[in-house]
Amino acid sequence: IPVDPFDLVIFGGTGDLARRKILPGLYRRYCSGQMEDNSRIIGAARSEHETAEFRQMIADAIAEFDPKSGSPEQLEGFLERLEYVQVDALGEAGWKELAALMGENRVRAFYFSVAPSLFGALAERLHAHGIADSETRIVVEKPFGKDLASAKALNAALAEHFDESQIYRIDHYLGKETVQNLMAVRFGNMLFEPLWNSQYIDHIQITVAETVGVDGRGEYYDRSGAMRDMVQNHLMQLLCLTAMEPPAKFDPDAVRDEKLKVIRALNAVPLEDVVRGQYLADGKKPGYLEHAGDPDSKTESFIALRVEVSNWRWAGTPFYMRTGKRLRARSSEIAVVFKETPHSIFGEEAGRHRNVLTIRLQPNEGMDLFVTIKEPGPGGMRLVDVPLDMTFAEALGPEAEDVPDAYERLIMDVIRGNQTLFMRGDEVEAAWAWADPLIASWENRGDKPVPYETGSTGPEEALAMMHREGRRWRDIR
Ligand code: BG6
Repeated sequence: IPVDPFDLVIFGGTGDLARRKILPGLYRRYCSGQMEDNSRIIGAARSEHETAEFRQMIADAIAEFDPKSGSPEQLEGFLERLEYVQVDALGEAGWKELAALMGENRVRAFYFSVAPSLFGALAERLHAHGIADSETRIVVEKPFGKDLASAKALNAALAEHFDESQIYRIDHYLGKETVQNLMAVRFGNMLFEPLWNSQYIDHIQITVAETVGVDGRGEYYDRSGAMRDMVQNHLMQLLCLTAMEPPAKFDPDAVRDEKLKVIRALNAVPLEDVVRGQYLADGKKPGYLEHAGDPDSKTESFIALRVEVSNWRWAGTPFYMRTGKRLRARSSEIAVVFKETPHSIFGEEAGRHRNVLTIRLQPNEGMDLFVTIKEPGPGGMRLVDVPLDMTFAEALGPEAEDVPDAYERLIMDVIRGNQTLFMRGDEVEAAWAWADPLIASWENRGDKPVPYETGSTGPEEALAMMHREGRRWRDIR
């Protein structure tokens, strides 16, 4: 279904994110017929380019990052929708030209794909030049601050010119198909919700494992680390959707109100419940310290933590989260580990078993529900745990393979005016309010992360953290 005609201005239109994700994503939506012919995408940046040059740059980006989509005719049609304007975010140059380009009677959206320090200046100039009105939408990217104070300052700078209903804070994890499926599974089935609490669930594991290092991003990353780069936002969102109460309806504020309550219920995590690591060189690739450009860097490229959601539903059920770079496999999942059966009628030998529901974000998006059955054959009542495998692409056919990537979906939601999958200002602030004291506690102690091997599952200490409670991490495969 096509969305309403729009003018989307991308500040930072020649930058990495625009070339890698935003424009290839928009191209795929164009190819699928979702963009009306009169919609336009306007790249805006400080450098001087003719529109023709910008179009060529984007054609090259599509050839590099998404060579399979569309036909040459479609590519040409898409490129014709592109314009370029040179704009100085901190000065007056280019704003009149931008204003003159904007069409009437269409959705106006501005994507701030620039450093957060420019958010306020852009908001102010859009306003001063009469380019933005009360219907205009603005899209901002992470990092949304580096702590509570900076996030508050960014929220305040945007709020001077835009209402919260106009601000779309992207966390691209919320655009992932399986993340939305988590809500469908929880709230579209009778089966799970009655068991979804500390009475039946032993613990929950959230893993986002990556094989990439911080190559080339050392400067940004070293100021950030896994806690700020991944946990405060992406893993936090996964935790919220797993732990939240059912909203009364699938409506932006109803959903975000429930997520906010989860963040506010998080415990103050003691340092014994945190393991931070840095990857080592492996002979072929440099280690974290070389990437960071500071041999004394105390920034973590891996973190594992044990968190509690202190409310009636979850008291006594720990949530373990871990994420890291240069691990054994690119694999992300949420695993809901149920309690063992209270008693084995099949005797000691058969053991006591537990169900596990895993929700895979990547690769092979899908779910597995491990159930205990009898091992086939004449050997008596021997029990075995088998997965009821639901790989979406297999269960739903080719349509499931053609799911939009996170950015495509989220940008179309901006045009439709649907904020459900975007973070509200208070959510971001609450997440920082939880993360700040924890970060401060290891910084104050001067803790250095422990080393771990490239291609491993992270530091031994992270395994030990689970073992001491009689639990174990699921394998990273
Ligand atoms: C980004 C982080 O937000 O998410 C990166 O800054 C990380 O460090 C990336 O690699 C992971 O996203 P995805 O979609 O590849 O899991």
